[in-house]
Amino acid sequence: MKLEDYSKEQLLERKAVLEEEIAEFASRGLSLDLSRGKPEAGQLDLSTPMLSILKEGDYYDEEGTDCRNYIGGLEGLPEVRRLFGEMLGVPPELVIPGGNSSLNMIHDALCRAFLFGPLPGFTPWCKLPEVKFICPVPGYDWHFHTCEDFGIRMLSVPIGEDGPDMDRIEELVKDPAVKGMICVPMYGNPSGVTFSDEVVRRLAQMETAAPDFRLFWDNAYCVHHLYDEEENRDHLANIYEACQACGHEDRVLMFTSTSKITFAGSGICAAAMSPANRAEALRTMTYQLVNYDKLNQLRHIRFLPDMAAVDALMKKHAAILRPKFERVTQILEETIAPLGIGHWHKPRGGYFICFYAMPGCAKRIVSICREAGVTLTPAGAAYPYDTDPEDSAIRIAPSYAAMGDLEKVMELFPKAVELASVEKLLG
Ligand SMILES: Cc1ncc(COP(=O)(O)O)c(C=O)c1O
Repeated sequence: MKLEDYSKEQLLERKAVLEEEIAEFASRGLSLDLSRGKPEAGQLDLSTPMLSILKEGDYYDEEGTDCRNYIGGLEGLPEVRRLFGEMLGVPPELVIPGGNSSLNMIHDALCRAFLFGPLPGFTPWCKLPEVKFICPVPGYDWHFHTCEDFGIRMLSVPIGEDGPDMDRIEELVKDPAVKGMICVPMYGNPSGVTFSDEVVRRLAQMETAAPDFRLFWDNAYCVHHLYDEEENRDHLANIYEACQACGHEDRVLMFTSTSKITFAGSGICAAAMSPANRAEALRTMTYQLVNYDKLNQLRHIRFLPDMAAVDALMKKHAAILRPKFERVTQILEETIAPLGIGHWHKPRGGYFICFYAMPGCAKRIVSICREAGVTLTPAGAAYPYDTDPEDSAIRIAPSYAAMGDLEKVMELFPKAVELASVEKLLG
C-alpha cells in the first residue's frame, strides 16, 4: 500500500514505530559515513603493484626521454597521450596529460578563460559584467563551488533519464552571457545518468550566442562500468567528433583522470581539446610549470599500457563495487518502492546512486540519519548554491563502506525516508 493512502491513524501509528526503531538504531552508537565517493581499501590494493613497478634503469619513455629529469615539456609521455586519447575518443595529439587531478586542470582552464579569454581575440571573462554557466542538476558539488568561487552565475537544468533538458539548454544559450556548461556526461555524479546520443548531438550542434561558449566535459567515469557485458554498459557518444562535424570543434574541453582507476588523488589526469584550444592552453601554461610528474605517468603506463589493461582493472573494481550498488538498490526496491515515497536511477557505472525523496523531505532524511550515526552528503549539495529547490535529492555513495556497514546504513535509511515522508503527510 502506498504511504499516501494511509489514514491519519495509520500514519501516526507508523510514526511511533519508526521513531522507536530509529532510536534503537541510534542507541548502538555507530558512526558510519557514506558522504563521499571514495574507493574502498580493497580497490586501492588492486593498484599497489604499480608502486614498485619502475625497476632500476626503467626511467625512459618510448622516445627515450629520461622521466627523472626536466626534459620533455608539458606534453607529457607520448604513450600516456595515446592512452588518454583512446579513453576520451580523440587523437593523441589533442591530449595534454596533467598531474594528479583533473579538477586542477578544470580550474586552470577556467582561470585561463577568465584571465586571457578562451582563445586569442576573445574578451577575458573577468572583464565581462557577468558570466553564466549551465549546470545540469543534480551535479557535482565541486564543480558548483568552483563556479561560485569564480563568480559565475549558475543556471540549473534538470537531468532526466537521457541527460539534461536540451530544450531548456537551447533556450539558455541564446543569452550571450551564457559562456559555458559544466557537466559529468557519463555515469553522472550523482545522477548516474549517461547523456544520450541525441543530447550529445544537440550539445554539439546548438547555436550559442557566445562565440566562446565552452563545454566543460568532466568525463571522470568514462571507463567505470559496473557490468562486464557490453550490453549492460552505458555508451557515451563522441562529443569531440560531434562538435567537429558541426564546425564547433573549439567548443568542448574534455577532462578525465585515473583517480578512480588507480589511486584517488595520486593518479594521473588529462585534458583534451581542439588544436587551437590546446595550443593556447600550452602557451599560457609555459611558465606555470616545467612539466607534470613524468615518473607517475611512466608508472601508470607500465601498469596500464593500453585500454585492454584498463578494462581488465576496471572489471576488478566492478567486482568489488557491483554487489554494493546492487544491495542498495535491492533494499530500496524492497522497502521504498511499495510505499511510493521515492525513486532512483539504477546506475550501470560510476560511484553514486541518486535517491529522490518526496519533495521537501531530503534535509529531514539526512538529519534523521545524522542523529542516528550515519553521515550522508548534505541535502542540496548536488545543486548550485547548495540549494535543491525541491529538497528531494540525496546522494548515496556506496563505495567506501564495507558491505556490513553499508547494510547497517541501509537498515536505517529507508526508515528515515519513511519517517520524513510520514511527517510530511501528517503536515
Ligand atoms: C565528476 C568528478 N570529477 C572529478 C573528480 C575528481 O577527480 P580528480 O581526482 O582527477 O581531480 C571526481 C571525484 O569524485 C568526480 O566525481
